[in-house]
Amino acid sequence: MPCSQQLKNHLPRFHLLLFLLAFAGAPASFGEKFAGIADTPPMGWNSWNHYECEIDENLVRETADAMVANGMRDAGYLYVNLDDCWQGERDKDGFIRADAARFPSGMKALADYVHSKGLKIGLYSDAGKMTCAKRPGSQGYEYQDALQYSRWGIDYLKYDWCHTGEGEAQRNAREAYSTIRDALNAAGRPVILSICEWGGSKPWEWGAEVGHLWRTGPDIVNCWQCQYGHGIWDSLGVLNIFDQQEAYRSYAGPGHWNDPDMLEVGNLPTLSENRAHFALWAMLAAPLIVGTDLVNLDENVLKVLTNKDVIAVNQDKLGIQAFGIFKTPTIDYWAKPLDGGDWAIAILNRTDEPREIHANWPVFNAVDDLTGRVLDFYRDKYAIKDLWTGKSAGTTAEPLKTTIDARDVLIYRFSLQPQ
Ligand code: GLA
Repeated sequence: MPCSQQLKNHLPRFHLLLFLLAFAGAPASFGEKFAGIADTPPMGWNSWNHYECEIDENLVRETADAMVANGMRDAGYLYVNLDDCWQGERDKDGFIRADAARFPSGMKALADYVHSKGLKIGLYSDAGKMTCAKRPGSQGYEYQDALQYSRWGIDYLKYDWCHTGEGEAQRNAREAYSTIRDALNAAGRPVILSICEWGGSKPWEWGAEVGHLWRTGPDIVNCWQCQYGHGIWDSLGVLNIFDQQEAYRSYAGPGHWNDPDMLEVGNLPTLSENRAHFALWAMLAAPLIVGTDLVNLDENVLKVLTNKDVIAVNQDKLGIQAFGIFKTPTIDYWAKPLDGGDWAIAILNRTDEPREIHANWPVFNAVDDLTGRVLDFYRDKYAIKDLWTGKSAGTTAEPLKTTIDARDVLIYRFSLQPQ
């Protein structure tokens, strides 16, 4: 067959390949992560915060169905991620298998189901010999595990740090995460790599080349402000975690995000706390990985999670994390530079009492050291949109007078007005 004929026969497939390359993320060459698959913070669901080890294939199917039916998928939540405890024993050749009692149809069938809903699927493993819940870890099996994930059609991997040794004998984190990156790369299917190393080796300093997001600290717990001891580590409440994030601000950007941990939205006791938590994570340009029961989700919490304007703040293409422009023990003001000269401004009430707000904007004039962007309310006038009501809240030419509920966040978009 002449060459040109051969090419013609292959053209449809060639086009398909080009299409896949353009939309599925660029293939990585050795020593590189997959590019173009986390240009904005990843959004999805993860089983851990609500279910811990109580997961099975029905839960995953029901959750995927719920995400389609309740509008979350269309709002941008694409990843359906299983955390610890999906694993069974390895087979005689060393390939990892799903827990047969909980996932009787197998992981490939589950991935196919999730994909058929227009969603993507993620798994969890660990850089040690065992996961935190003592299931098989990936140490020594990295290439085999990556191959297995790619055969199943896995799109996201959270990779944990339990059982990686202690003191001198501990694995080198950068090396361990680079190994799984290279293994995923060799398997060839684009996978978001979530580095879950809890911050010990400062992953913000090396993570951008290795993964797409990295945990900056210990596990979140569903309280506003608290700290629970677990022997050698403490889990932290929403404000405890939020208050640590500004230090890592300069490391975040398109394709490489600080991860203050998955959301407890839906698991906190009041609507104010839930929406405050959501707004703060949106301001941080944090991954929005929901960790609650989506099958029995409260209507008002769903409205928070699918608020398009707040999601747009999080998903803004510049990918800049917010900075504090005015902080007190009771009320904080945070600013996030957005594309096109806009800003998101969030006001946080840390306290258990409603507070009056009287914001005379020039008091909040600020310069962002990271980007050089300037908030000069003498020079510039902005239209203010309240992102919870979707309504105008006037302009910055007038002071903003309002009240803020206990443990709540007001969040606004400021759009530059023509002079
Ligand atoms: C660690 C991680 C958590 C979760 C559990 C699972 O604690 O930090 O996010 O994945 O392990 O065992």
